[in-house]
Amino acid sequence: MTRSLTILGATGSIGRSTADVVLAHRDEFRVEAVVGGRDAAALAEVARRLGARFAALSDERGGETLKEALSGTGIASGAGQSAILEAVARETDVVLAAISGTAGLAPTHAALKAGRRIALANKESLVCAGEAFMADARRLGVEIMPVDSEHNALDHALAAGLNRDVEKAVITASGGPFRTWSKERIAQADADVASAHPVWSMGSKINIDSATLMNKGLELIEAHHLFGLEAERLDVLVHPEAIVHGLVQWRDGAVTAGLALPDMKVPIANALRHRERLQMDLPRLDLAAIGRLSFDRPDEERFPCLSLAKAALKAGGAMPTVLNAANEIAVEAYRAGRIRFYDISEMVESVCSTFSGRRLSAPAIVADALEIDREAREAAMGLMPAHA
Ligand SMILES: NC(=O)c1ccc[n+]([C@@H]2O[C@H](COP(=O)([O-])OP(=O)(O)OC[C@H]3O[C@@H](n4cnc5c(N)ncnc54)[C@H](OP(=O)(O)O)[C@@H]3O)[C@@H](O)[C@H]2O)c1
Repeated sequence: MTRSLTILGATGSIGRSTADVVLAHRDEFRVEAVVGGRDAAALAEVARRLGARFAALSDERGGETLKEALSGTGIASGAGQSAILEAVARETDVVLAAISGTAGLAPTHAALKAGRRIALANKESLVCAGEAFMADARRLGVEIMPVDSEHNALDHALAAGLNRDVEKAVITASGGPFRTWSKERIAQADADVASAHPVWSMGSKINIDSATLMNKGLELIEAHHLFGLEAERLDVLVHPEAIVHGLVQWRDGAVTAGLALPDMKVPIANALRHRERLQMDLPRLDLAAIGRLSFDRPDEERFPCLSLAKAALKAGGAMPTVLNAANEIAVEAYRAGRIRFYDISEMVESVCSTFSGRRLSAPAIVADALEIDREAREAAMGLMPAHA
């Protein structure tokens, strides 16, 4: 049966992998709408390739360029927030949510509220407004299928038993480019070096989060909301081969794990098809050829962002929202060469401690999450001169 699909973040790394999956299964999918940020030419190209019916660009200034690039194709287009809302309001079976960062919150939530099944890559939606998203998903009966390889693996592993029998759910981290580096050497590394991920090919922001291990911390928070598991039952293992993505340890000592070669097309295809399996023309996992898989505990001394994210998860309330906002500002500054690697964790820690006294409760609606996000960003920006 053909499924209709809208792709938020269609020009990004996840968006492009999604386009590959769709183009390899022409009979299985029909693309209703594609949404992008600023790159009108790239959005027009993906809209043409996929034969989408509508293309929406967030940046209003690119609206004319997009329109011109699509003229004669029959693909309608628009720009600005209203165009994005128009894209998510269009009838579809599934919305793949892959806008990067907090910018993904409002469009993803609008799709959820419209009752669309969500294939979720934008982890920030759950990190910043997890309570609000999950409450609305339950109320509206909307399913959220995780695209993150770790959560996709956990989703399947957890189906092997009951939530109350889970002793621990573990997500793995490849360890990033600095896995074996000394703290002194990491401290000197610039954003280009930090962006060179050893395993995954990803967008620039998540690459830096992988180097700091903040990405793994955000994923713990995401797992907490997706699977209803408290901090004490969630853990991280470093696994450089990135073959085992998630493991569930049951109370009888048995372990169920999700394995695959590291290619985002695998969890994307699965999330799009609602747990069904598509025939994928990809290399197969050959464990005998790999020979050996290795695991290690994360070093939170060299990667303090992981401890900060764990602390935010334990603190609960609005702390994950604050953590995420401060991290986005710090990562942007690091990428611009304005601060150094360990300034990221220092800034995040400083903003979190500023907010900790206020004991803000978890945002019950997305608008509240965005307001806390705004305040935390301002606080992070305020720290910038001292760190620049
Ligand atoms: N990459 C991975 O392997 C991976 C794995 C798991 C989860 N994720 C998550 O998936 C999300 C996307 O990651 P990515 O690596 O694909 O990022 P990316 O390559 O940087 O792509 C981001 C996408 O979002 C669009 N965008 C940015 N700001 C926007 C806005 N204000 N409105 C509408 N669209 C906007 C970009 O459009 P322009 O290109 O026009 O700016 C682009 O299409 C992130 O939340 C990330 O944590 C990624």
